[in-house]
Amino acid sequence: MTNREAMLEKIADLDAQHAVAVAGGGDKYVDRHHARGKLTARERIELLVDPGSAFLELSPLAGWGSDFTVGASVVTGIGVIEGVECMISANDPTVKGGASNPWTVKKIFRASQIAEENDLPTVSLVESGGADLPTQKEIFIPGGRLFRDLTRSSARKQPTIALVFGNSTAGGAYVPGMSDYTVFVRGGAKVFLGGPPLVKMATGEESDDESLGGAEMHARVSGLADYLAEDELDAIRIGRRIVARLNRRRPSVGVPARAGSPTLGGGCNGLQVSDSPSQCVFAEPDADPETLLDLIPTDLKEPFDPREVIVRIVDGTSERNGRPFDEFKPLYGTSLVTGWAQLHGHPIGILANAQGVLFSEEAQKATQFIQLANQSDTPLLFLHNTTGYMVGKDYEQGGIIKHGAQMLNAVSNSSVPHLSVIMGASYGAGNYGMNGRAFDPRFLFTWPSAKSAVMGPAQLAGVLSIVARAATEAKGQEYDEEGDAGMRAMVEQMVEEQSLPYALSGMLYDDGVIDPRDTRTVLAICLSVISNTTWTGGEGFGVFRT
Ligand code: COA
Repeated sequence: MTNREAMLEKIADLDAQHAVAVAGGGDKYVDRHHARGKLTARERIELLVDPGSAFLELSPLAGWGSDFTVGASVVTGIGVIEGVECMISANDPTVKGGASNPWTVKKIFRASQIAEENDLPTVSLVESGGADLPTQKEIFIPGGRLFRDLTRSSARKQPTIALVFGNSTAGGAYVPGMSDYTVFVRGGAKVFLGGPPLVKMATGEESDDESLGGAEMHARVSGLADYLAEDELDAIRIGRRIVARLNRRRPSVGVPARAGSPTLGGGCNGLQVSDSPSQCVFAEPDADPETLLDLIPTDLKEPFDPREVIVRIVDGTSERNGRPFDEFKPLYGTSLVTGWAQLHGHPIGILANAQGVLFSEEAQKATQFIQLANQSDTPLLFLHNTTGYMVGKDYEQGGIIKHGAQMLNAVSNSSVPHLSVIMGASYGAGNYGMNGRAFDPRFLFTWPSAKSAVMGPAQLAGVLSIVARAATEAKGQEYDEEGDAGMRAMVEQMVEEQSLPYALSGMLYDDGVIDPRDTRTVLAICLSVISNTTWTGGEGFGVFRT
């Protein structure tokens, strides 16, 4: 099978997994929802964002491999509303009435972290049965953060807007309660701390949905609704008008000091995600991103040259950009490629694994390169394909731990924005040094060919076997060779499954699995989103052990 065929097979499988998420609760519940005259979560989002603009969906496979529906009964992502990049979070009422399970809560937390880090307004499209009652013990206590995050967002002047389409009861009532702006749909929104049965139980009072929490009541009596929308489309229209009046201004982006450069900043730094006119100019890549499929082996044991990936995702040769990629220290530490490029007009520094293993030289080169990027306030892109830091006597004696620690120090304390893409392997501390999830890159995406674990499945099973054999022999007993083979096979299969991108994405260890051909577009959106903030590199690193 060619690389292309193998990758296309994986992409078809990825499409099938995404289709499960898009199906939400399935035809039965979607049809019932439509029959009630309601729009689905994705239809609401599509109408809310600017026509023709990109919507960067986040964590679409949340909950994959768990007992919950893939997607975790909520859709989150970044969309452009009236020219403003916003974090959008929409309950999916076709999945268990939109109730929040443990993965829903984690997904919303991640969305709110992204909104905070990138200074985005949040628009919540609310229709939820509240806590998923059978798993309430896992979400009740941590779930409170959801409301805390909303008001802290407001305190940071990152506006919060709730468009309430349906149920928003009990704790859920605090989503509109904590939001800066609320829009309630007449006849749809139901916002109360306790519904009629609960009120009857608690106080004996007879009541009905409308008097307890209807849109009309909240607009005219309680004041919880700022706007009363006639229907769902009206709510979306009002939501767009609210965003239009937020007076959001992007910080001005530094204009490169080169005569004749097209102007950056002033509303757009390269990526034109909305219809707004822009002076942004950038060259398409010198090589067609489509050909990534021919280059990337799905068998991780086969090495590939990351320069071939870089030239397919960064801006191509142009008068302003010069060569697409100016490599730094190309003759030293050659299993890590470092250098400077531009993506949709955004300057970036790139660190990409070449032959898999990170040696001391690579770690030191990375450390220096990260400091240079901080000196020039340049965002960093990490392209993972590493089996980790080199082990063995010579390397330990040569200080591989010290040098790896320097790289981790630089990655951890670098104050320019980071993006990560896991292209292939991301094993062991290599995952950390290359800015894995625990090191908080602003965004992290994974290719369908990726694998991440403490080490490779065969290596992990082998280590377990060696340890078990030594323990048995230390007790003077005979080692069960047949049992060992069975254990190795079982462990290998288990680690293999746990290392796959869907399993990792299901646990929110990335922001999504993407088709490699979309990498440039996805990174361009991320860089545009990042440009809502300003940053200064090199504010301080820890002590570099030398
Ligand atoms: N936890 C777990 N499952 C829930 C749920 C919740 N909070 N809310 C709804 N569901 C499930 C239902 O049991 C049903 O499952 P099934 O189809 O497998 O039988 C499915 O979601 C759809 O619910 P249904 O009542 O048929 O949908 P609806 O659109 O007519 O009504 C609600 C949706 C949310 C209005 C209604 O289900 C409801 O009132 N739920 C309880 C709300 C509540 O009091 N939550 C407590 C919050 S702390």
